[in-house]
Amino acid sequence: MEAIIVPAFPVGTAVAVGGPAVALCGLSLWFIRAYVDDRRRKSSKHPLPPEVPGLPVIGNLLQLKEKKPHKTFAKWAETYGPIYSIKTGANKMVVLNSNDVAKEAMVTKYSSISTRKLSKALNILTADKSIIAMSDYGEFYKMAKRHVLNSTLGTHAQKQHRGHRDMLVENTSNQLHASLSENPLQAVNLRKIFLFELFSLALKEVLGEDVESIYVEEFGTTFSKEELIKVIVHDPMEGAIEVDWRDFFPYLGWIPNKSFERKIQQMDHRREFVMKALIKQQRKRFESGKEISCYLDCLLSEATTFTERQILMLIWEALIETSDTTLVTTEWAMYELTKDPEKQDRLYRDIQNVCGANKVTEENLCQLPYLSAIFHETLRKHSPVPVVPLRYVHEDTELGGYNIPAGTEIAINIYACNMEKKVWENPEQWNPERFLDGKHDHMELHKTAAFGSGKRVCAGALQAMLISCITIASLVQEFEWGLADGEKDNVDTLRLTNQKLHPLQAIIKPRN
Ligand code: HEM
Repeated sequence: MEAIIVPAFPVGTAVAVGGPAVALCGLSLWFIRAYVDDRRRKSSKHPLPPEVPGLPVIGNLLQLKEKKPHKTFAKWAETYGPIYSIKTGANKMVVLNSNDVAKEAMVTKYSSISTRKLSKALNILTADKSIIAMSDYGEFYKMAKRHVLNSTLGTHAQKQHRGHRDMLVENTSNQLHASLSENPLQAVNLRKIFLFELFSLALKEVLGEDVESIYVEEFGTTFSKEELIKVIVHDPMEGAIEVDWRDFFPYLGWIPNKSFERKIQQMDHRREFVMKALIKQQRKRFESGKEISCYLDCLLSEATTFTERQILMLIWEALIETSDTTLVTTEWAMYELTKDPEKQDRLYRDIQNVCGANKVTEENLCQLPYLSAIFHETLRKHSPVPVVPLRYVHEDTELGGYNIPAGTEIAINIYACNMEKKVWENPEQWNPERFLDGKHDHMELHKTAAFGSGKRVCAGALQAMLISCITIASLVQEFEWGLADGEKDNVDTLRLTNQKLHPLQAIIKPRN
């Protein structure tokens, strides 16, 4: 997910609504709602989940203002239990914080919770749910998912794209060597190099060609790859957490919020023009008979019922999803290994035992259980999707023994599931050894809750695992990694996908 997923929670904006009329209107609706809830509670044989106390009208909005809701949710679970309800303005949300109840929602009760409720920003940025990860279960979803698996993310497609991954690993290593020969004592910024390589891989898998720059007619200018990454990946990631106070007070949706709308719409237009230019270039190639095995060509030849806009959005989705969460996971894994020389050494010795003087390849992955443990432990501790994109209950259901009425939003807190003390010993510790206890098949992809589960389980899990594992193995085989000064406690995070706030700064030495 990939990425643009978790709708933002409010900052001060939510309370800046202001005005006595608004407050009065809000208050009366609050009373009506409280009355309806009370009636519902009395008519069901199950109780409603415990409520986290909040303020009238705004509910728990103020308590969520630090933009890391997964941590606040996990803290509340210590007091209110693994399932409880909160209010975000006029909306009622049930938060799930344990593996059992999260699985119940994602697998057993999926049919009652299979729609999404998007924030205003996400509605614009996903062109009203025109991407797989944000769509409701239905024909568009089923067809788009089939195409992305067949052409790009499924096992067979991943075999076909193997060459792109080998190239990514080779280029990353070459660039690190080049930066060392320029200045051997300077810390390297792995993120910068790896992001470019991931984006190139995404362009090849999705559009069929690595594009260095593109002329965009609407702007009358050429966009460099760096600018493409900004418009396609970084800006929408920022936009996805923009808060429009009307999300929390839908009955006030008629009040304009022009500056918010302008900002998101500009972002959307820039992305649209750039994506159109990229697609136009490849469409010409496709129409001239030069077909390439990639997602776009698959959509152009097979998804004939999709509109231009839907194709554009699906192509954009695959680009952003490839470029973000895999980077986040790989960087955190390298940070943890760099901080812990013993574990780094253990991995290095494993690789040497299996590969000797040869370079590590994907064929070796099944012989390297410690590498796999490192990948899964990193996903557990630094879950790149800490909260599943909000689901929406469209018919009354029941979760964890509680009554969940239709109209409730559901937040599944993956972070809390991966930190659950009942399941994980010393969850705060990054300890890959926990996966070597013989209980886990080391090639199993779903050892933690990180990829979700059930029908909406992550479609890109295999690709993320292949890219991340082979990159970590190659980086450790070729270089010895040590933390640059001041880097040890740099563990703060940024944005939706738990990205490390400060890029890892490492001092590296070639192994031979
Ligand atoms: C470590 C990396 C990744 C993590 C942790 C991750 C996690 C997730 C999670 C938690 C979901 C949501 C499941 C739900 O709604 O219940 C998801 C959905 C999805 N992810 Fe990923 N993801 C990763 C990488 C990728 C990559 C690389 C791609 C594609 C290039 C991708 C494509 C998707 C898609 C298409 C969905 C929607 C699936 C559906 O709704 O059926 N993900 N991912």
